[in-house]
Amino acid sequence: MAPKKSKGLLGLIGKKKSKKSDSGARKDLKLFEAMQAGEAYGDKELQRSAKDHLWMHFTRHSPYQTKDMTIITRGEGHYLWDSKGNKVIDGLSGLFAVNAGHGHQELADAASKQMMELDFMPLWAYAHPRAIELAERLLSYAPKDLNRIFFTTGGGEAVETAWKIAKQYYKLKGKPTKTKVISRMTAYHGTSHGALSITGIAAMKAMFEPLVPSTIRVPNTNWYRSKHLFKTEEEFGLWAANRIEEAILMEGPDTVAAFYVEPIQNSGGCFTAHPSYFKRVREICDKYDVIFVADETITGYGRSGEMFACERYGIEPDMMITAKAITSGTQPLGALFLKEKYFEPFTEGTTIFPHGYTFAAHPVACAVALANLDIYDREKLVDNVRTNSPIFRKTLEKLYDLPIVGDVRGDGYFFAIELVKNQETRETFNKEESEKLLRGFLNSAFYEAGLYCRADDRGDPVVQLAPPLTIGPKEFDELEQILRKVLTEAWKRV
Ligand SMILES: Cc1ncc(COP(=O)(O)O)c(C=O)c1O
Repeated sequence: MAPKKSKGLLGLIGKKKSKKSDSGARKDLKLFEAMQAGEAYGDKELQRSAKDHLWMHFTRHSPYQTKDMTIITRGEGHYLWDSKGNKVIDGLSGLFAVNAGHGHQELADAASKQMMELDFMPLWAYAHPRAIELAERLLSYAPKDLNRIFFTTGGGEAVETAWKIAKQYYKLKGKPTKTKVISRMTAYHGTSHGALSITGIAAMKAMFEPLVPSTIRVPNTNWYRSKHLFKTEEEFGLWAANRIEEAILMEGPDTVAAFYVEPIQNSGGCFTAHPSYFKRVREICDKYDVIFVADETITGYGRSGEMFACERYGIEPDMMITAKAITSGTQPLGALFLKEKYFEPFTEGTTIFPHGYTFAAHPVACAVALANLDIYDREKLVDNVRTNSPIFRKTLEKLYDLPIVGDVRGDGYFFAIELVKNQETRETFNKEESEKLLRGFLNSAFYEAGLYCRADDRGDPVVQLAPPLTIGPKEFDELEQILRKVLTEAWKRV
């Protein structure tokens, strides 16, 4: 006799199935239907579809219940256009990436040519010419002791990779307990579990605990909030660097693998450091055999006024992380630079580094990166930053006459304006005030006034500026005028 079928269960499964397909059928894909039919669609259709189907990164979705998203449709030079026809200055180079400006025909040509020559090969057991050429070219700009490159598709993957190399390196060298990473408070290093563990922003991590254990935080170099405690910035820098030594000793030098630092820390608002800070970090890392990792995801490729900020501040890292502007943001690519010493143990016997990414060193991304560096050389973008940065700073410092402007800091084409309640006492805004100011007003007000930039409160509230490296004094004045108008209005609301 055939086994008795459980009608109830089958019924339930059947019901579940049909419900699922019902809801699938109800999915509103009108935009796709219009695309299929070759029909025109505009902002209204894009808005609805974006709200229904996109999950925006690091973004609250609740406001989109009642208001439209900004949909960026075009970029040219240092300008962006949106789906409603507004034109704004790109004051953030997309996301610290579009350093050569938007819309270079030669980058598109390089991508197209490469696609027809070799459209894809992973950099696993086979190499390809563009990766080889790019590695040498990148090394020609890099700090002298860096000799090898591990490609990734972005900054966070390079952060992750550097940690894994450090751990395996020490295992191969007979120091298996050296696994921990020290990084700085409020620093952002990416979102994967490893990179997020190194990140120093508690609010970004809480939901994802438990993260990768064994990371330790030390103070950053927030001079504006520390200057009342020290005679000079150099003295403060030495104090901050010595906290790294303290952390190493507290954890045990045999357990610490690496120290990560951004030459100019973005989160918290462009924290620079006196060169003696980096010199002392080098001494400490040498003393305790700790790998010094410079995270130049943002500062790399000219942003600081040198090709790499390591050069600008005399930093001698063991590893250096770059991404973003390597292709001026037009292709996803990251490059981790290393001293040969960290590669050597991997050349022996059957040893491999069991780690990689399908699309790292994508031939098209490498071809575009090479073309991007041609633009850098031809247009002398780094010289432009070096020459004009002091003028940029001076122009922004005019804003000190506004009571809400507490500090203007940064370097190169990378500045932050810290907002305060009281210039004299440096009193900052509390969480609710900051929420109202930033998300309730500033971010949309800047955009409406013609500037895409970022008001951020991962540390104290700051406005962040990182425009393409192509702009000059005329555009600094335009930026200052927009900032002045919006910050004046913001003060009235405080
Ligand atoms: C200093 C730093 N490190 C790492 C990252 C992560 O890079 P990605 O988003 O390419 O993974 C970022 C991103 O902004 C960054 O600023």
